[in-house]
Amino acid sequence: MGIVFDSSNNTFHLQSERMSYIIQMVKPGYVAHLYWGKRLNSSNFSALFQIRERAFAPNPEPSNPDLSLDTLPQEYPGYGNSDFRVPSFQVQLENGSTVVDLRYDGLHEISKGKPKLDGLPATYVEDDSEATTLHIQLADVVTGLTVILSYTVYENEDVIIRSVRFRNEGVERMKLLRALSFNIDFHDAGYDLLHLHGSWARERQLERRPLLTGMQSIESRRGASSHQHNPFFALLKKDATEDYGEVYAFNLVYSGNFLAQIEVDQFQTTRVGMGINPFDFTWLLEPGGSFQTPEAVMVFSAEGLGSMSRTFHRLYRSRLCRGRFRDQLRPVLINNWEATYFDFNGEKIERIARTAGELGIELFVLDDGWFGKRNDDQSSLGDWFVNREKLPLGLKDLAERVQKMGLQFGLWFEPEMVSPDSELYRQHPDWCLHIPGRSRSTSRNQLVLDLSREDVCQAVIAMVSDILKSAPITYVKWDMNRHMTEIGSAQLPPERQRETAHRYILNLYRILDTITSAFPHILFESCSGGGGRFDPGLLYYMPQTWASDNTDAVARLKIQYGTSMVYPAVTMGSHVSAVPNHQVQRTTSLEMRGHVASSGNFGYELDLNKLNPNEQEQVQQQIAFYKEIRSLIQFGDFYRLQSPFEGNETAWIFVSKDATEAVAFYFRVLAEANPSWQKIRFKGLNDKLNYQILPENKVCGGDLLMNAGLNMPLEKMSGDFQSICWRLKAV
Ligand code: DGJ
Repeated sequence: MGIVFDSSNNTFHLQSERMSYIIQMVKPGYVAHLYWGKRLNSSNFSALFQIRERAFAPNPEPSNPDLSLDTLPQEYPGYGNSDFRVPSFQVQLENGSTVVDLRYDGLHEISKGKPKLDGLPATYVEDDSEATTLHIQLADVVTGLTVILSYTVYENEDVIIRSVRFRNEGVERMKLLRALSFNIDFHDAGYDLLHLHGSWARERQLERRPLLTGMQSIESRRGASSHQHNPFFALLKKDATEDYGEVYAFNLVYSGNFLAQIEVDQFQTTRVGMGINPFDFTWLLEPGGSFQTPEAVMVFSAEGLGSMSRTFHRLYRSRLCRGRFRDQLRPVLINNWEATYFDFNGEKIERIARTAGELGIELFVLDDGWFGKRNDDQSSLGDWFVNREKLPLGLKDLAERVQKMGLQFGLWFEPEMVSPDSELYRQHPDWCLHIPGRSRSTSRNQLVLDLSREDVCQAVIAMVSDILKSAPITYVKWDMNRHMTEIGSAQLPPERQRETAHRYILNLYRILDTITSAFPHILFESCSGGGGRFDPGLLYYMPQTWASDNTDAVARLKIQYGTSMVYPAVTMGSHVSAVPNHQVQRTTSLEMRGHVASSGNFGYELDLNKLNPNEQEQVQQQIAFYKEIRSLIQFGDFYRLQSPFEGNETAWIFVSKDATEAVAFYFRVLAEANPSWQKIRFKGLNDKLNYQILPENKVCGGDLLMNAGLNMPLEKMSGDFQSICWRLKAV
């Protein structure tokens, strides 16, 4: 397995156990895409290649009228020399021209392992035997532009990781106008497009629609990967379902502006590419300079969406997330945001923490409002020193008191922002993104710090580090609550202004790397007004993300189901909150809230002292139960059973690696009079094992549970917002 180069017909065969990806070098040096799909065992791929003369398809080599780049399926197409489809890259030269002609000149390298990406988050290997990497070098002889296409194939996963590196080996400056991370030209167009769209408090909603002729795209122009579109999409064969059919999925390891472009052309072929959004982006390449694109994770599944998701989950849990928390059970936490908002003092916090400790919670998180003079969202971002009016004895004292109650102590920050009403802004008004002479648009009364500047980065690192050193803090929630406007930097020259947004993200990654390396004992959770930056870029530094500011159990079904397409449950912060719910005013049962939150990285977001003794007891039982099942939730295999996007019911199951244990959840949103008989069919079990099922205390075969299904205990469900949790153990 790995990558095989066949010099007799110039093909590269990238292969995992169940997948093949085939590239062919076509004279005079073009890189053609031949195949991606189920594993091929043959070594002669000539039948996969076809070109022929077509009207209005120009020929880069007049002697070969069959060859046009407009009809050749390619791996990284450019612009201007016979391909009219959307390109992967475009370069502007000093003479104003935007045409280059990249060709392969016999230079490639195949090696074991996976090299690190310069300054960018990336999947990795722990041992070189896990993966093989291919670099193909292309060059434009006129300008000296060199482009290296990188491919890594993992031995045991149906995954290919792609990225591209540009180098200016010429003598003139050039400007990158577009630099996507990959391209694939599928030979057909019979696919549906699946993607995750949304909004604040309504993240990652599933949408599936047929591909149509022409361009279709998904993108962010907000300076963040965004609530609105996750940097993920998949092409599904028309007949593909949750458990059946071919799926090609793409996820960009990047947290800023991105573009996923899909073009169905005149011959019903489909061009797919993804990368940094070329909108308002350029990058100046000086002679000798280079530019590295983010990497894209490409997953193939021959068994539908479920298998696609489990591939992403395994890869991200073990070869994207890092640090000592990667394989550790995550603590049950309580966060005071919805309990107090900005209105708290030391005593109030201690009361919440004390009850939390008594009920079994392991970590207390102090959210927004502990610093500067912040009593609402009008001020103080940037003033990262403790608010002595609220906490007269300081953070260290509070953290130690919380510790004495048996809980760890965590803290909220929003380090990328500054309030106009802050000491920091008064001292450094040019430290935010802005354009001289123009007003600065605020959002949530705040401005974005210009992280493209080194002095600002150093100040952020120092401010956060000082606080982290000042108290026994073991968890940080790293928030970011607005998108970028008036994007410009006071320190960049005019020809580099359009680099600002990407430089911001690169430096954000550097800041995170510095801080997380300096404080390896701290568990970091990212947040952006909930799940506005739920992307693999940030998961590389912070192994969990607050999935949404919407904590309503019903709304969460769709948010968590959509999120599960790509991201494993252990990365998904998920809390029980008070009713009526603060975002939608709905009152759901405590049981259902517990079951929904237990399906992710579990916690609470309310004042436990406001619950009655029965509810407190129920909370105590929920926590004890979660502790029993959390290794399954956080590290088991996840199977979706019923979709909230298709009806009133949702169900999913977490199964241990050896399939001897499982925990399944079923949710019914609205009650129905005199309902039909119903069964629930599980997945992922061993059909040769018998399982004891709790709470029914029945024993059933895995084959029966998966093929016939378990009768739904309709008699136990009355009223709206019902949920059931079953535990299965092999006997
Ligand atoms: C947005 C986050 O998503 C919330 O959980 C909370 O931390 C607020 N910010 C605080 O301002």
